[in-house]
Amino acid sequence: MCGIIGYVGSRPCKELLLEGLKRLEYRGYDSAGVALLEEDGLHYVRAVGNLENLKRAAASNGSRVTHGLGHTRWATHGTVTEANAHPLTGCSERELAVALNGIVENYRELKESLLADGHTFSSETDAEVVIHLVERHYDGDLADAVRAAYDELEGHFSFVVIHRAHPDLLVGARCQTPLVVGVGEGETFLASSIAAFLPETRRVQFIEDGDVVSITPAGATFQSADGTTGDPDIVEVDWDEESAEKGGYETFMLKEIYEQADSVRETIGDRVRHGELVLEALEMTDEQIRNLRRIVIVACGTAYHAGVVGRYIIEEWARIPVEPDIASEWIYRNPVLSKDTLVIGISQSGETRDTVNAVKLARELGARTLAITNLMGTQITREAETVLYTRCGMEVGVAASKTFTAQAALLSLVALKLAQVRKTLPPEEIEFTLNQLYELPRKIDEFLDADHPIEEIAQRFYDKPFFLYLGRHIGLAVALEGALKLKEISYIPTEAYSAGEMKHGPIALLEEGTPVVVVATDIHVYDKIVSNIQEVRARGAHVIAVATDGNEDIQHHADDVIYVP
Ligand code: M6R
Repeated sequence: MCGIIGYVGSRPCKELLLEGLKRLEYRGYDSAGVALLEEDGLHYVRAVGNLENLKRAAASNGSRVTHGLGHTRWATHGTVTEANAHPLTGCSERELAVALNGIVENYRELKESLLADGHTFSSETDAEVVIHLVERHYDGDLADAVRAAYDELEGHFSFVVIHRAHPDLLVGARCQTPLVVGVGEGETFLASSIAAFLPETRRVQFIEDGDVVSITPAGATFQSADGTTGDPDIVEVDWDEESAEKGGYETFMLKEIYEQADSVRETIGDRVRHGELVLEALEMTDEQIRNLRRIVIVACGTAYHAGVVGRYIIEEWARIPVEPDIASEWIYRNPVLSKDTLVIGISQSGETRDTVNAVKLARELGARTLAITNLMGTQITREAETVLYTRCGMEVGVAASKTFTAQAALLSLVALKLAQVRKTLPPEEIEFTLNQLYELPRKIDEFLDADHPIEEIAQRFYDKPFFLYLGRHIGLAVALEGALKLKEISYIPTEAYSAGEMKHGPIALLEEGTPVVVVATDIHVYDKIVSNIQEVRARGAHVIAVATDGNEDIQHHADDVIYVP
């Protein structure tokens, strides 16, 4: 989840690019760079850290240049270094460069073939293969070379290429990742978000997946995969700058809820290749994995709830006992650990003191340690032996959303990897589950795009003084997280409970009309959940069930149903 902005026109563009990057900074800020086309070819300025560093570094460069490309990075492949900052170049540095957003899933295979062809790589990124492919295919026509390169890529990405031989031209393409044209007077922008160029123009053209788009100061031309050219309508957006940053959503949290498909897609990304699991960063030998006797997951808040999801799937698939624990409790109770225990610390920010300290302590006590986090270079990555990253981009909303689902997806991959090595699941079941995971982003989008009675339910219940959330198994983890979200953003006192435990006390809280949200999806404890729903309804409470698409039975038990795939 990075940000791209490109410009062709007659104005000096360095400041335009830097300003555009500033507006994209909410997408990622670990490093940034610009490529400016001067008379003797492309010149680059790249800097690690926030944009001020890039501005300072670029102070003396290309003030008259009118053709350039900028990028702000949220690292996914390769550490946070200047060498990994985009725009990235091919073998001939002055000739051509690319800025990419997203993930190239087949970069390993492509890199091998490019290396065999004599290409030399200067970064650790997946993105660099794109510019070498363009270089390999280039024969005087940049759009053709981009098309040929695009056709070899797998994944979800958008990218823009600049070439010295084509002043006043930028060529880009997208696959399931945003890229949009900004149409100005005698100038054109190509960016990953409208926010990047909004103060300069409100006139935009949207690009379809598979289109190769070429921009010149006179406008954009679009070429689809079958070679036909298109001319999408120019749309005038009426967003202000603030709502543009939020992609038109009312709040960052809502925007991030809608980004879940992307963040799960990126997190799974190249880790599942044609039904195969590639999780090298786990960095444990098969023998070490086979010898594991216990896993402890330490985290806080939402990350802890993801850990509870982790418990169910790891125990189920890999048959290793898992204890999710609240980091702030765990560190103060003299934990019992040994070298056959793996301690997984989960922290979106990578900086939560209790979680970082828990991982540090685990390592001191001789356990193996793995951090799951969203940001490279953070404290937790320095304390843990190994690190796996969710790839959500920055989460601006204080209430976590997209990082929870991405953490759960990543824990699923870890569970499957452990199961594969320990042979606790048949290979065909692993392959089936990997394929299901691969399908997950599409299902998330389908759910978010469809109509649901959620808003109408909220209208009916927003002034209730108390909510109860119930679930069992993974549904309990989801209930815990749902209740946290309701408390955190609505200030409504909310309890989350294991549905089976409710009768041992909390049931006393229920009265006529108390809203009770029950996670009642199709899992092996569905019938037990239905019994719990009956207990709740006997008290006159109002049941809002979250159930699996197609489950008609739940209609007989719940007052409202929200269906999920
Ligand atoms: O950055 P972390 O994942 O370590 O943060 C832990 C919690 O503070 C965090 O998950 C918090 O509970 C959520 N933002 C609540 O929505």
